[in-house]
Amino acid sequence: MTLRSALTLLLTLWLAVAGPPAVLAQDGPAPAGAPPAAGAPPAQDERMARTGGAQTLEDILARQRGEKVDLSFRRQALGSPEAAAPINAPLGTLGGASDAELWRAYRYGLADLTTQVQVPAATTVIQDGGMSWLELRNGPLRSYGGYLLLGVIALLALFYLVRGRIRLESPPTGRKIIRFRLIERFAHWLMAGSFILLGLTGLVTLYGRVALIPLIGKEAFAFIATTSKLIHNWIAWGFMAGVLMAFLLWVGKNLPRKYDFVWLMKGGGMFAKGVHAPAGKFNAGEKIVFWAVVLFGAAISFSGLALLFPYKIEAFAATFRVLNDLGLPQMIGLEALPTALSPQEEMQLAHLLHLAVAFVFMALILAHIYLGSIGMEGALEAMTRGTVDVQWAKEHHDIWYQEIEARGEPEAEATPAE
Ligand code: HEM
Repeated sequence: MTLRSALTLLLTLWLAVAGPPAVLAQDGPAPAGAPPAAGAPPAQDERMARTGGAQTLEDILARQRGEKVDLSFRRQALGSPEAAAPINAPLGTLGGASDAELWRAYRYGLADLTTQVQVPAATTVIQDGGMSWLELRNGPLRSYGGYLLLGVIALLALFYLVRGRIRLESPPTGRKIIRFRLIERFAHWLMAGSFILLGLTGLVTLYGRVALIPLIGKEAFAFIATTSKLIHNWIAWGFMAGVLMAFLLWVGKNLPRKYDFVWLMKGGGMFAKGVHAPAGKFNAGEKIVFWAVVLFGAAISFSGLALLFPYKIEAFAATFRVLNDLGLPQMIGLEALPTALSPQEEMQLAHLLHLAVAFVFMALILAHIYLGSIGMEGALEAMTRGTVDVQWAKEHHDIWYQEIEARGEPEAEATPAE
């Protein structure tokens, strides 16, 4: 083969694979029927007349730019029995609607459909909203959720660098008092342990494809993702039981008291040494965490159960109806919320709620974990051994200490090492 014929072959192959370069298509003569280069674009009817009633390139490009395009002509193009060719004419048995028109009617929920399938979602064949749900999950929720968690970790690290560990101001006495009974510690660790597992496995589900597949490959990720999903679905029951137990055990001690406002005004004494803030068994900060855990725990359990049992738990349409009747969306300048939701939309909303609450919940619990461990001397012991030093109780929970002293509650035995 000569050099010339080899080059010709290569060029032919390249053109066959890559096609003509895009720039050729742009610079070449305008395609037949293209709008004039200057002046206003022709009206949509006129444009569509050129495409035989289909969407035009301008419409498609406008839609890709995120602009609103009037597509009502498509919605209405559903064919008609009158348009059917007579039975004795060519194609006469095909009816008055083409396949495209039938699918379009499916898509816009306008087809007169019946099905013998009895599962709830079977009546929705195509659901456009699935795309915006996916974009929200893979876009803003995933990225801003990640920034939130990293931001909280950075803030806690900064707080540690500036304030350091919050230590006791006077040395421990060695006298111990009981702070949490075994059942309270059990409820706490059931809730905490399952929360950490749920958070980690949930994050694997959400970020695995983008963060783990490039690192460990698809096969290893497939195993991790399947295991994560199993753990998430089963550990959820432990979490719900833990939250319920903690609620029943501690609700009485978490009701707001006057001195809680003083605690809040003083920032809990956490931002400067020597500042004392009054607190009962739980301080105002802990009470806020308690009520947030109850509220977020209920929301995340509800939405999680809706995901766990698809199409069985649907509450959004009913809730939106109540909110509309109360006029709440209108009060903040929103339109009335949709009250006719497909089963898929109910699931998508449950998922978005689950994810949004999960991020706020994790951010809050990161701060709680910090304060309960490295952030404050003596705090972890209260939840591991169930006891605290008298000096710790006096400095951090003075009102509680006075109460148990007044009641004459027995002291715990000091361990020999202390
Ligand atoms: C309380 C009971 C809970 C139940 C019943 C539950 C259930 C579920 C279910 C069924 C899924 C979908 C998993 C899949 O892809 O198949 C899910 C996803 C997820 N859950 Fe939970 N969950 C619960 C609690 C939590 C908690 C406490 C957290 C956070 C600490 C959490 C964070 C997540 C996250 C981040 C996802 C991933 C969502 C996504 O990939 O888009 N969940 N959960």
